[in-house]
Amino acid sequence: MSDRSFIRADRTSVFVRELDRAYPLIERGDGVWLHDTAGNAYLDAVSGGAMVTSLGHGDVPGIIDAAAAQARRLSFVYNVHVTSPAQEELAAELVKLAPEGFTRVHFTSGGTEANELGLRMARSYHVERGEPSRHLIISPAQSYHGASIATFGLTGRAGLQSPYQPYIQQQPHIAPSTWRTDPTGEAALAELDRVIAEAGPENVAAFLLEPVSAASLPGYSPPEAFWRGLEQRRREHGFLIWFDEVVTGLGRTGTWFAADQMPVVPDIITTAKGLGAGFIPIGGMLVRDHVYQAVAAGSRAFEPGHTWDGAPVSCAVGLAVIDRLRSEKLVESVRERGPGLRQALEDALAGCDMVREVRGRGFLLGVSYVDPDDGESFLDPALGVAGRIDQEARDRQLVIYSTQPTADGFAGDQTLLAPAFVATDGELDEIVERVAATVRAVEAAVKKEIAGRRS
Ligand SMILES: Cc1ncc(COP(=O)(O)O)c(C=O)c1O
Repeated sequence: MSDRSFIRADRTSVFVRELDRAYPLIERGDGVWLHDTAGNAYLDAVSGGAMVTSLGHGDVPGIIDAAAAQARRLSFVYNVHVTSPAQEELAAELVKLAPEGFTRVHFTSGGTEANELGLRMARSYHVERGEPSRHLIISPAQSYHGASIATFGLTGRAGLQSPYQPYIQQQPHIAPSTWRTDPTGEAALAELDRVIAEAGPENVAAFLLEPVSAASLPGYSPPEAFWRGLEQRRREHGFLIWFDEVVTGLGRTGTWFAADQMPVVPDIITTAKGLGAGFIPIGGMLVRDHVYQAVAAGSRAFEPGHTWDGAPVSCAVGLAVIDRLRSEKLVESVRERGPGLRQALEDALAGCDMVREVRGRGFLLGVSYVDPDDGESFLDPALGVAGRIDQEARDRQLVIYSTQPTADGFAGDQTLLAPAFVATDGELDEIVERVAATVRAVEAAVKKEIAGRRS
């Protein structure tokens, strides 16, 4: 592959994220394909790398026209003073698509902002109702909720927080209920009880979780017993349940919201990525009516907000994205094809000693890796399996997203797959084939290295 199609830290004015990484220079996209400046085509299995471009890359019919028409008519107004038809219509659409009982939406520019807002909402709800001691947000430790200082406190991942520790307000966490420590969910419930008792139920504002996890624990959902136990504890202790659907919202798991598939109805949902589908930054917080009524019957203000909250062009794009999802029946398509994609991935990876689990729903799937010697332990982080998987995939012109959160203690190396909903069956087959070839190649190299260390 030609060197001119890569950008390196020492040859750019961009303050890149990782200074030792070579960044392919992508100039064009088309469906699930990304094209670099040297004419190479990459198969994008993660919707732009961050589970965003669910409608695919390129000129998706209706979206750019809607943005351009809105920008010509009215590009910006500040929602402190006025509102716009685009904001009004998008909020009304989302309320229709959300689980029953959700009645209000507050827009943001992305997922982190939506979660900052969720945090403030969970707090304000209780303050408005005269329970100002409630401030703690409990959540599974292995999670990701954004890159701001407050949202860093919402995850229990030490690796993410360490440089910023002095600024972080640490929230309480419980271990996730994976096969490793708690396949039934009973241990997590016992831990939740302990955390609530220690904190004092009168101090707990909400329980936050990704109903289907994304990068931190790809494709993971808690087991049934955990959900039932969580619901009981909400009734008993009066905290809110908040779903981070920044990734899962807008069809990613085969329903408009992942909440539609869960045995528990949340009180707050935050969402973002698929709403703008890569055409514009937009997110939002949706609340059930009783949450809104706390403010309506209380101070009657939920301030402050951000300049771009509910901006007309962003909302026009959100509306066009929903139109497109509906007209092409893309959510239904994810629902129908998701199980087949997962099965095909499982079949293609069968016999790989390094693969412990293939999991997930719809088009949000995860592969977790273990030491091939015992099929259980974390791989030695020094082997750098996640990085090698992504590099090997890139050599095969495949974009996937692997992580190595081993230091956090809850998960080892893993890969996330989240293709665009518009991927054809043939493209999905191609993704599965390239993933399997990638994993098998890395596994062979890793096994050799492990054997070499022993001899
Ligand atoms: C589950 C989840 N929540 C929140 C965020 C933060 O969203 P953003 O990067 O749009 O701020 C992300 C981003 O990956 C995410 O995966």
